[in-house]
Amino acid sequence: MNRQNGTQRPYDVVLFGATGFVGALTAEYLAAHAPSGCRWAVAGRDRAKLERLRERLTAIDPHHTDLPLLHADADDAHALRELAESTHVVATTVGPYVWYGEKLVAACAEAGTDYADLTGEAEFVDRMYLEHDARARETGARIVHACGFDSVPHDLGVYFTVQQLPQDVPLTVDGFVRSNALFSGGTFASALTAMGRGPRMLRAARERRLHEPRLVARRARAPLGAPRFSAETGTWALPLPTLDPRVVERSARALARYGPDFRYRHFASVRHLPVALGGTAAIGALLGAAQVPAARSWLMGRYEPGRGPDAERRGRSWFTVRFVGAGGGRRVFTEVSGGDPGYGETAKMLAHSALCLALDELPPTSGQVTTAAAMGDALLERLRSAGLRFRVAAAR
Ligand SMILES: NC(=O)c1ccc[n+]([C@@H]2O[C@H](COP(=O)([O-])OP(=O)(O)OC[C@H]3O[C@@H](n4cnc5c(N)ncnc54)[C@H](OP(=O)(O)O)[C@@H]3O)[C@@H](O)[C@H]2O)c1
Repeated sequence: MNRQNGTQRPYDVVLFGATGFVGALTAEYLAAHAPSGCRWAVAGRDRAKLERLRERLTAIDPHHTDLPLLHADADDAHALRELAESTHVVATTVGPYVWYGEKLVAACAEAGTDYADLTGEAEFVDRMYLEHDARARETGARIVHACGFDSVPHDLGVYFTVQQLPQDVPLTVDGFVRSNALFSGGTFASALTAMGRGPRMLRAARERRLHEPRLVARRARAPLGAPRFSAETGTWALPLPTLDPRVVERSARALARYGPDFRYRHFASVRHLPVALGGTAAIGALLGAAQVPAARSWLMGRYEPGRGPDAERRGRSWFTVRFVGAGGGRRVFTEVSGGDPGYGETAKMLAHSALCLALDELPPTSGQVTTAAAMGDALLERLRSAGLRFRVAAAR
Protein backbone atom coordinates (compact mmCIF):
# COMPACT_ATOMS: atom_id res chain seq x y z
CA MET A 1 0.00 0.00 0.00
CA ASN A 2 1.15 3.52 -0.72
CA ARG A 3 1.93 5.19 2.60
CA GLN A 4 0.44 8.52 1.60
CA ASN A 5 -2.97 7.73 0.18
CA GLY A 6 -3.42 4.00 0.76
CA THR A 7 -3.63 3.26 -2.98
CA GLN A 8 -2.38 0.06 -4.47
CA ARG A 9 0.14 0.42 -7.30
CA PRO A 10 0.98 -2.29 -9.85
CA TYR A 11 4.47 -2.97 -8.42
CA ASP A 12 6.18 -3.00 -5.03
CA VAL A 13 9.68 -2.58 -6.52
CA VAL A 14 10.99 -1.57 -9.96
CA LEU A 15 14.69 -2.05 -10.65
CA PHE A 16 15.89 0.57 -13.18
CA GLY A 17 19.21 -0.08 -14.99
CA ALA A 18 18.67 -3.82 -14.60
CA THR A 19 20.73 -4.57 -17.73
CA GLY A 20 24.01 -3.06 -16.41
CA PHE A 21 26.72 -4.91 -14.50
CA VAL A 22 25.49 -4.36 -10.95
CA GLY A 23 21.89 -4.02 -12.18
CA ALA A 24 21.91 -7.58 -13.53
CA LEU A 25 23.44 -8.88 -10.27
CA THR A 26 20.69 -7.09 -8.34
CA ALA A 27 18.02 -8.56 -10.64
CA GLU A 28 19.49 -12.04 -10.09
CA TYR A 29 19.47 -11.46 -6.34
CA LEU A 30 15.83 -10.37 -6.40
CA ALA A 31 14.93 -13.32 -8.63
CA ALA A 32 16.38 -15.67 -6.05
CA HIS A 33 15.33 -13.86 -2.83
CA ALA A 34 12.30 -11.58 -3.28
CA PRO A 35 9.50 -13.08 -1.18
CA SER A 36 6.64 -14.71 -3.05
CA GLY A 37 3.89 -12.15 -3.38
CA CYS A 38 6.35 -9.28 -3.88
CA ARG A 39 5.42 -7.68 -7.21
CA TRP A 40 8.59 -6.54 -8.91
CA ALA A 41 9.65 -5.54 -12.42
CA VAL A 42 12.83 -4.65 -14.27
CA ALA A 43 13.28 -1.46 -16.30
CA GLY A 44 15.84 -0.14 -18.75
CA ARG A 45 16.35 1.69 -22.03
CA ASP A 46 17.01 -1.34 -24.24
CA ARG A 47 14.13 -3.81 -24.74
CA ALA A 48 16.30 -6.53 -26.34
CA LYS A 49 18.70 -6.47 -23.36
CA LEU A 50 15.75 -6.64 -20.95
CA GLU A 51 14.42 -9.72 -22.82
CA ARG A 52 17.82 -11.41 -22.57
CA LEU A 53 18.01 -10.59 -18.85
CA ARG A 54 14.55 -12.12 -18.29
CA GLU A 55 15.69 -15.32 -20.03
CA ARG A 56 18.59 -15.52 -17.56
CA LEU A 57 16.29 -14.90 -14.61
CA THR A 58 13.90 -17.56 -15.87
CA ALA A 59 16.79 -20.02 -15.80
CA ILE A 60 17.16 -19.19 -12.06
CA ASP A 61 13.44 -19.57 -11.44
CA PRO A 62 10.90 -20.51 -14.17
CA HIS A 63 8.28 -18.27 -12.48
CA HIS A 64 10.02 -15.28 -14.05
CA THR A 65 8.84 -16.00 -17.61
CA ASP A 66 6.23 -13.28 -17.07
CA LEU A 67 8.43 -10.80 -15.18
CA PRO A 68 7.25 -7.37 -16.39
CA LEU A 69 9.75 -5.40 -18.50
CA LEU A 70 9.38 -1.60 -18.41
CA HIS A 71 10.95 0.70 -20.95
CA ALA A 72 12.35 4.13 -19.98
CA ASP A 73 15.33 6.30 -20.81
CA ALA A 74 16.99 8.29 -18.02
CA ASP A 75 16.44 11.42 -20.11
CA ASP A 76 12.70 10.92 -20.68
CA ALA A 77 10.90 12.77 -17.86
CA HIS A 78 7.47 11.56 -19.02
CA ALA A 79 8.46 7.86 -19.08
CA LEU A 80 10.14 8.21 -15.68
CA ARG A 81 7.01 9.79 -14.21
CA GLU A 82 4.93 6.83 -15.45
CA LEU A 83 7.52 4.45 -14.03
CA ALA A 84 7.52 6.22 -10.65
CA GLU A 85 3.71 6.19 -10.50
CA SER A 86 3.58 2.46 -11.23
CA THR A 87 5.46 1.36 -8.09
CA HIS A 88 6.00 1.98 -4.39
CA VAL A 89 9.83 1.83 -4.69
CA VAL A 90 12.32 2.44 -7.50
CA ALA A 91 15.86 1.10 -7.11
CA THR A 92 18.25 2.48 -9.70
CA THR A 93 21.75 1.60 -10.88
CA VAL A 94 21.79 4.09 -13.77
CA GLY A 95 24.96 6.09 -13.25
CA PRO A 96 27.07 8.20 -13.26
CA TYR A 97 24.18 9.70 -11.37
CA VAL A 98 25.28 13.28 -11.89
CA TRP A 99 24.65 12.67 -15.63
CA TYR A 100 21.64 10.35 -15.58
CA GLY A 101 20.08 10.53 -12.11
CA GLU A 102 18.18 13.76 -11.58
CA LYS A 103 15.01 13.21 -13.63
CA LEU A 104 14.24 9.97 -11.79
CA VAL A 105 14.71 11.61 -8.37
CA ALA A 106 12.37 14.42 -9.51
CA ALA A 107 9.77 11.87 -10.71
CA CYS A 108 9.88 9.92 -7.43
CA ALA A 109 9.69 13.09 -5.30
CA GLU A 110 6.67 14.20 -7.31
CA ALA A 111 4.89 10.83 -7.25
CA GLY A 112 5.52 10.11 -3.54
CA THR A 113 7.55 7.05 -4.55
CA ASP A 114 10.40 5.74 -2.42
CA TYR A 115 13.79 5.75 -4.15
CA ALA A 116 17.08 3.89 -3.56
CA ASP A 117 20.31 4.25 -5.55
CA LEU A 118 23.99 3.31 -5.55
CA THR A 119 25.56 6.70 -5.85
CA GLY A 120 28.82 7.59 -4.16
CA GLU A 121 28.76 11.05 -5.81
CA ALA A 122 28.59 13.77 -3.13
CA GLU A 123 27.74 16.51 -5.65
CA PHE A 124 24.71 14.56 -6.89
CA VAL A 125 23.44 13.93 -3.35
CA ASP A 126 23.78 17.61 -2.39
CA ARG A 127 22.12 18.80 -5.62
CA MET A 128 19.22 16.38 -5.12
CA TYR A 129 18.82 17.68 -1.56
CA LEU A 130 18.69 21.27 -2.80
CA GLU A 131 16.31 20.55 -5.70
CA HIS A 132 13.98 17.79 -4.49
CA ASP A 133 14.08 17.28 -0.70
CA ALA A 134 11.29 19.79 -0.04
CA ARG A 135 8.92 18.23 -2.61
CA ALA A 136 9.69 14.71 -1.37
CA ARG A 137 8.79 15.79 2.16
CA GLU A 138 5.45 17.10 0.88
CA THR A 139 4.58 13.90 -1.00
CA GLY A 140 6.10 11.55 1.62
CA ALA A 141 8.71 10.06 -0.73
CA ARG A 142 11.84 8.69 0.94
CA ILE A 143 14.88 9.48 -1.22
CA VAL A 144 17.64 7.17 -0.01
CA HIS A 145 20.98 7.54 -1.78
CA ALA A 146 24.07 5.36 -1.33
CA CYS A 147 22.39 1.99 -0.74
CA GLY A 148 25.49 -0.02 -1.80
CA PHE A 149 28.99 -0.39 -0.42
CA ASP A 150 28.83 3.40 -0.49
CA SER A 151 27.59 3.83 2.26
CA VAL A 152 25.61 0.99 3.90
CA PRO A 153 28.40 -0.82 5.84
CA HIS A 154 29.68 2.52 7.17
CA ASP A 155 26.31 4.06 7.94
CA LEU A 156 24.81 0.93 9.53
CA GLY A 157 28.16 -0.01 11.07
CA VAL A 158 28.25 3.30 12.96
CA TYR A 159 24.54 2.93 13.81
CA PHE A 160 25.33 -0.52 15.27
CA THR A 161 28.40 0.82 17.14
CA VAL A 162 26.42 3.68 18.68
CA GLN A 163 23.90 1.15 20.01
CA GLN A 164 26.74 -0.44 22.04
CA LEU A 165 27.61 2.90 23.72
CA PRO A 166 25.89 4.81 26.55
CA GLN A 167 23.03 7.19 25.77
CA ASP A 168 22.99 11.00 26.12
CA VAL A 169 26.77 11.49 26.28
CA PRO A 170 29.27 12.81 23.68
CA LEU A 171 30.39 9.96 21.37
CA THR A 172 33.27 9.48 18.93
CA VAL A 173 33.53 6.73 16.32
CA ASP A 174 36.44 6.06 13.92
CA GLY A 175 35.92 3.70 10.96
CA PHE A 176 38.75 1.79 9.21
CA VAL A 177 37.98 0.22 5.80
CA ARG A 178 39.92 -2.64 4.18
CA SER A 179 39.17 -4.56 0.99
CA ASN A 180 40.88 -6.45 -1.83
CA ALA A 181 38.17 -5.83 -4.44
CA LEU A 182 38.32 -4.64 -8.06
CA PHE A 183 35.85 -2.24 -9.73
CA SER A 184 33.59 -2.24 -12.81
CA GLY A 185 33.55 0.09 -15.83
CA GLY A 186 30.49 1.88 -14.42
CA THR A 187 32.13 2.53 -11.04
CA PHE A 188 35.33 3.74 -12.69
CA ALA A 189 33.31 6.13 -14.91
CA SER A 190 31.42 7.48 -11.88
CA ALA A 191 34.60 7.94 -9.81
CA LEU A 192 36.45 9.72 -12.64
CA THR A 193 33.43 11.91 -13.34
CA ALA A 194 33.25 12.92 -9.68
CA MET A 195 37.01 13.59 -9.52
CA GLY A 196 36.75 15.86 -12.57
CA ARG A 197 34.01 17.98 -10.95
CA GLY A 198 35.79 19.10 -7.76
CA PRO A 199 34.76 22.80 -7.84
CA ARG A 200 31.11 21.92 -8.62
CA MET A 201 31.11 19.40 -5.77
CA LEU A 202 32.42 22.02 -3.32
CA ARG A 203 29.85 24.57 -4.55
CA ALA A 204 26.96 22.12 -4.05
CA ALA A 205 28.23 21.26 -0.54
CA ARG A 206 28.49 24.96 0.35
CA GLU A 207 24.95 25.70 -0.93
CA ARG A 208 23.62 22.75 1.02
CA ARG A 209 25.26 23.95 4.24
CA LEU A 210 23.61 27.37 3.80
CA HIS A 211 20.23 25.77 3.16
CA GLU A 212 20.17 22.97 5.75
CA PRO A 213 18.53 23.79 9.11
CA ARG A 214 21.00 24.08 11.99
CA LEU A 215 20.93 21.45 14.71
CA VAL A 216 19.59 22.86 17.96
CA ALA A 217 21.46 21.96 21.19
CA ARG A 218 23.30 19.06 19.52
CA ARG A 219 26.42 18.66 17.37
CA ALA A 220 27.18 16.10 14.63
CA ARG A 221 30.50 16.29 12.77
CA ALA A 222 32.60 14.23 10.37
CA PRO A 223 35.94 16.06 10.10
CA LEU A 224 38.78 14.70 7.96
CA GLY A 225 41.20 12.84 10.25
CA ALA A 226 44.98 13.04 9.95
CA PRO A 227 47.03 10.16 8.46
CA ARG A 228 48.56 8.09 11.26
CA PHE A 229 49.51 4.64 12.44
CA SER A 230 46.48 3.28 14.28
CA ALA A 231 47.42 1.26 17.35
CA GLU A 232 43.77 0.08 17.59
CA THR A 233 43.86 -1.74 14.24
CA GLY A 234 47.63 -2.21 13.81
CA THR A 235 47.42 -0.59 10.35
CA TRP A 236 48.15 2.74 8.66
CA ALA A 237 45.03 4.92 8.65
CA LEU A 238 44.59 7.29 5.70
CA PRO A 239 41.72 9.82 5.76
CA LEU A 240 39.09 8.84 3.17
CA PRO A 241 37.08 11.84 1.91
CA THR A 242 34.31 9.76 0.28
CA LEU A 243 30.56 10.25 0.62
CA ASP A 244 30.48 7.83 3.58
CA PRO A 245 31.43 10.25 6.40
CA ARG A 246 28.86 12.76 5.09
CA VAL A 247 26.17 10.07 5.22
CA VAL A 248 27.16 9.09 8.77
CA GLU A 249 27.07 12.77 9.82
CA ARG A 250 23.53 13.08 8.38
CA SER A 251 22.39 9.98 10.25
CA ALA A 252 23.82 11.52 13.43
CA ARG A 253 21.91 14.73 12.72
CA ALA A 254 18.68 12.78 12.20
CA LEU A 255 18.91 10.37 15.16
CA ALA A 256 19.02 11.64 18.75
CA ARG A 257 20.54 8.27 19.84
CA TYR A 258 23.92 9.53 18.50
CA GLY A 259 23.99 11.84 21.52
CA PRO A 260 24.53 15.56 22.17
CA ASP A 261 27.96 15.77 20.50
CA PHE A 262 28.92 13.17 17.89
CA ARG A 263 32.10 12.91 15.80
CA TYR A 264 32.91 10.40 13.06
CA ARG A 265 36.24 10.00 11.19
CA HIS A 266 36.63 7.73 8.18
CA PHE A 267 39.89 6.03 7.17
CA ALA A 268 41.29 3.59 4.65
CA SER A 269 43.22 0.99 6.58
CA VAL A 270 46.48 -0.29 5.04
CA ARG A 271 48.86 -2.85 6.57
CA HIS A 272 52.16 -1.78 5.01
CA LEU A 273 53.54 1.76 4.73
CA PRO A 274 54.85 1.39 1.13
CA VAL A 275 51.35 0.27 0.01
CA ALA A 276 49.83 3.27 1.83
CA LEU A 277 52.26 5.65 0.12
CA GLY A 278 51.83 3.98 -3.30
CA GLY A 279 48.02 4.04 -3.01
CA THR A 280 48.03 7.73 -2.05
CA ALA A 281 50.29 8.54 -5.01
CA ALA A 282 48.08 6.55 -7.42
CA ILE A 283 44.90 8.32 -6.25
CA GLY A 284 46.72 11.68 -6.53
CA ALA A 285 47.74 10.85 -10.12
CA LEU A 286 44.18 9.78 -11.01
CA LEU A 287 42.80 12.98 -9.46
CA GLY A 288 45.28 15.04 -11.53
CA ALA A 289 44.42 13.17 -14.75
CA ALA A 290 40.69 13.57 -14.11
CA GLN A 291 41.12 17.38 -14.38
CA VAL A 292 42.25 17.07 -18.03
CA PRO A 293 39.31 16.18 -20.34
CA ALA A 294 41.47 14.27 -22.88
CA ALA A 295 43.16 12.21 -20.14
CA ARG A 296 39.77 11.56 -18.51
CA SER A 297 38.23 10.25 -21.77
CA TRP A 298 41.29 8.08 -22.41
CA LEU A 299 41.07 6.60 -18.92
CA MET A 300 37.31 5.96 -19.25
CA GLY A 301 37.95 4.11 -22.51
CA ARG A 302 40.18 1.64 -20.61
CA TYR A 303 37.17 0.17 -18.76
CA GLU A 304 34.03 -0.60 -20.72
CA PRO A 305 30.62 0.18 -19.17
CA GLY A 306 28.59 -2.98 -18.52
CA ARG A 307 31.71 -4.98 -17.53
CA GLY A 308 33.39 -5.76 -14.22
CA PRO A 309 35.21 -8.46 -12.26
CA ASP A 310 34.11 -12.02 -13.15
CA ALA A 311 32.41 -14.42 -10.72
CA GLU A 312 35.69 -16.13 -9.80
CA ARG A 313 37.38 -12.81 -8.91
CA ARG A 314 34.29 -11.59 -7.05
CA GLY A 315 34.32 -14.86 -5.10
CA ARG A 316 37.81 -14.04 -3.80
CA SER A 317 36.94 -10.47 -2.81
CA TRP A 318 36.17 -9.32 0.72
CA PHE A 319 35.84 -6.22 2.87
CA THR A 320 36.00 -5.37 6.56
CA VAL A 321 35.17 -2.10 8.28
CA ARG A 322 36.41 -1.88 11.86
CA PHE A 323 34.97 0.74 14.16
CA VAL A 324 36.34 2.12 17.42
CA GLY A 325 33.62 3.85 19.41
CA ALA A 326 34.04 5.73 22.68
CA GLY A 327 31.90 7.74 25.11
CA GLY A 328 30.67 7.89 28.68
CA GLY A 329 33.73 5.95 29.92
CA ARG A 330 33.12 2.98 27.58
CA ARG A 331 35.16 1.85 24.56
CA VAL A 332 33.84 -0.61 21.98
CA PHE A 333 35.39 -2.32 18.96
CA THR A 334 32.96 -3.48 16.29
CA GLU A 335 33.27 -4.88 12.79
CA VAL A 336 31.17 -5.15 9.64
CA SER A 337 32.42 -7.61 7.04
CA GLY A 338 31.34 -9.47 3.95
CA GLY A 339 32.30 -10.72 0.50
CA ASP A 340 32.82 -8.79 -2.72
CA PRO A 341 31.90 -5.25 -1.66
CA GLY A 342 31.36 -3.46 -4.97
CA TYR A 343 29.14 -6.01 -6.69
CA GLY A 344 27.95 -9.17 -4.88
CA GLU A 345 27.34 -7.39 -1.58
CA THR A 346 26.28 -4.12 -3.22
CA ALA A 347 23.59 -5.96 -5.24
CA LYS A 348 22.42 -7.56 -1.99
CA MET A 349 22.38 -4.20 -0.15
CA LEU A 350 20.42 -2.46 -2.91
CA ALA A 351 17.93 -5.33 -3.25
CA HIS A 352 17.32 -5.42 0.51
CA SER A 353 17.06 -1.62 0.75
CA ALA A 354 14.33 -1.70 -1.89
CA LEU A 355 12.51 -4.63 -0.26
CA CYS A 356 12.85 -2.99 3.16
CA LEU A 357 11.32 0.28 1.93
CA ALA A 358 8.53 -1.61 0.16
CA LEU A 359 7.63 -4.25 2.72
CA ASP A 360 8.89 -3.44 6.25
CA GLU A 361 7.43 -1.46 9.14
CA LEU A 362 9.73 1.58 9.34
CA PRO A 363 9.95 4.82 11.33
CA PRO A 364 8.07 7.70 9.68
CA THR A 365 10.52 9.67 7.52
CA SER A 366 10.39 11.52 4.20
CA GLY A 367 12.61 13.65 1.98
CA GLN A 368 16.30 12.85 1.53
CA VAL A 369 17.12 10.34 4.26
CA THR A 370 20.06 8.05 5.03
CA THR A 371 19.88 4.26 5.21
CA ALA A 372 20.28 4.38 9.02
CA ALA A 373 17.59 7.01 9.52
CA ALA A 374 15.10 5.53 7.04
CA MET A 375 15.61 1.81 7.69
CA GLY A 376 17.98 1.33 10.69
CA ASP A 377 17.28 -1.94 12.52
CA ALA A 378 15.08 -3.41 9.78
CA LEU A 379 17.81 -3.15 7.12
CA LEU A 380 20.50 -4.28 9.56
CA GLU A 381 18.52 -7.44 10.37
CA ARG A 382 17.83 -8.10 6.69
CA LEU A 383 21.54 -7.82 5.82
CA ARG A 384 22.57 -10.01 8.75
CA SER A 385 20.12 -12.67 7.61
CA ALA A 386 21.57 -12.32 4.11
CA GLY A 387 25.10 -13.08 5.37
CA LEU A 388 26.73 -9.71 6.16
CA ARG A 389 28.41 -9.80 9.57
CA PHE A 390 27.89 -7.07 12.18
CA ARG A 391 29.65 -7.98 15.42
CA VAL A 392 31.10 -6.57 18.62
CA ALA A 393 34.76 -7.63 18.67
CA ALA A 394 35.56 -6.25 22.16
CA ALA A 395 34.26 -3.78 24.72
CA ARG A 396 35.66 -2.29 27.88
N1 LIG B 1 27.93 2.37 -4.16
C1 LIG B 1 28.64 1.38 -4.57
O1 LIG B 1 29.29 0.76 -3.80
C2 LIG B 1 28.57 1.00 -6.01
C3 LIG B 1 28.97 -0.28 -6.41
C4 LIG B 1 28.83 -0.62 -7.74
C5 LIG B 1 28.35 0.31 -8.64
N2 LIG B 1 28.01 1.55 -8.21
C6 LIG B 1 27.48 2.56 -9.13
O2 LIG B 1 26.38 2.00 -9.82
C7 LIG B 1 26.32 2.53 -11.14
C8 LIG B 1 26.24 1.37 -12.12
O3 LIG B 1 27.45 0.65 -12.12
P1 LIG B 1 27.64 -0.53 -13.17
O4 LIG B 1 29.00 -1.06 -12.99
O5 LIG B 1 26.50 -1.46 -13.11
O6 LIG B 1 27.57 0.32 -14.55
P2 LIG B 1 27.09 -0.15 -15.98
O7 LIG B 1 27.33 -1.59 -16.15
O8 LIG B 1 27.70 0.82 -16.94
O9 LIG B 1 25.48 0.05 -15.95
C9 LIG B 1 24.86 1.27 -16.13
C10 LIG B 1 23.38 1.06 -16.37
O10 LIG B 1 22.82 2.33 -16.70
C11 LIG B 1 22.03 2.19 -17.87
N3 LIG B 1 21.95 3.46 -18.58
C12 LIG B 1 22.95 4.24 -19.01
N4 LIG B 1 22.44 5.33 -19.65
C13 LIG B 1 21.10 5.21 -19.58
C14 LIG B 1 20.02 5.99 -20.03
N5 LIG B 1 20.21 7.14 -20.71
N6 LIG B 1 18.76 5.58 -19.79
C15 LIG B 1 18.53 4.42 -19.11
N7 LIG B 1 19.51 3.63 -18.68
C16 LIG B 1 20.77 4.01 -18.91
C17 LIG B 1 22.75 1.13 -18.66
O11 LIG B 1 21.85 0.63 -19.65
P3 LIG B 1 22.34 -0.34 -20.86
O12 LIG B 1 22.52 -1.71 -20.25
O13 LIG B 1 21.24 -0.24 -21.82
O14 LIG B 1 23.66 0.23 -21.35
C18 LIG B 1 23.07 0.15 -17.56
O15 LIG B 1 21.92 -0.62 -17.26
C19 LIG B 1 27.57 3.41 -11.30
O16 LIG B 1 27.20 4.75 -11.10
C20 LIG B 1 28.50 2.93 -10.20
O17 LIG B 1 29.36 3.95 -9.74
C21 LIG B 1 28.11 1.90 -6.91
